[in-house]
Amino acid sequence: MKFFLDTANLQDIRTGVEMGIVDGVTTNPTYIAREGRPMEEQIRAICDLVDGDISAEVVATIAPEMISEGRALARIHPNVVVKIPLIREGIKAVKALSSEGIRVNVTLCFTPTQALLAAKAGAYIISPFVGRLEDIGSNGMDVVRDIVKLYNLHGYPTKVLAASMRGPMHIFDAAMAGAHIATMPLKVLDMLFNHPLTDKGLAMFLADYQKAFQEATVG
Ligand code: G3P
Repeated sequence: MKFFLDTANLQDIRTGVEMGIVDGVTTNPTYIAREGRPMEEQIRAICDLVDGDISAEVVATIAPEMISEGRALARIHPNVVVKIPLIREGIKAVKALSSEGIRVNVTLCFTPTQALLAAKAGAYIISPFVGRLEDIGSNGMDVVRDIVKLYNLHGYPTKVLAASMRGPMHIFDAAMAGAHIATMPLKVLDMLFNHPLTDKGLAMFLADYQKAFQEATVG
């Protein structure tokens, strides 16, 4: 399963990239707005840091405008994947852009049947939002599981990207569900390292080693 960082923050991306396990980045208009730089500039800067799929989202909501915005985003860098919301106009844009060979990540997906629409339109990636479904008392991971099953059953090549990941169990469950990608904030990626027995074990190893050498030196 690929790990993407879900952020537009360059410092977080640099930190993640240094770990050597980041395969791509997903952004959304909220993340871009937070950084205060125009979309094109920020996406180009991200592409300079990460050699992998970089999702950049359109802000138009009418198909012809989404299509021209999508084309412009795709021209920024060959690694750009155009992100389109799962609305009626969006699906028209997905079909048009995919037919031109532009890779599209369909976002704001909350049901398996919405995911079918995206696959039928030729989406490269579908992004079900797990955490936001849980926020309203629904089972987000069941949606991921069902989408993976549906796509396998019907042979759709669309990749399943588990989004809105809030903690390590989401990453584990997404991997077990067969998601191809999980996108997560740096905070969640960092949490995956944590275990008290790892810290305790390392402290003991180092203490034993130091003691042995100190004793050897003294003796
Ligand atoms: O980028 C889309 C999604 O991952 C956002 O997650 O945590 O704002 O629900 P969140």
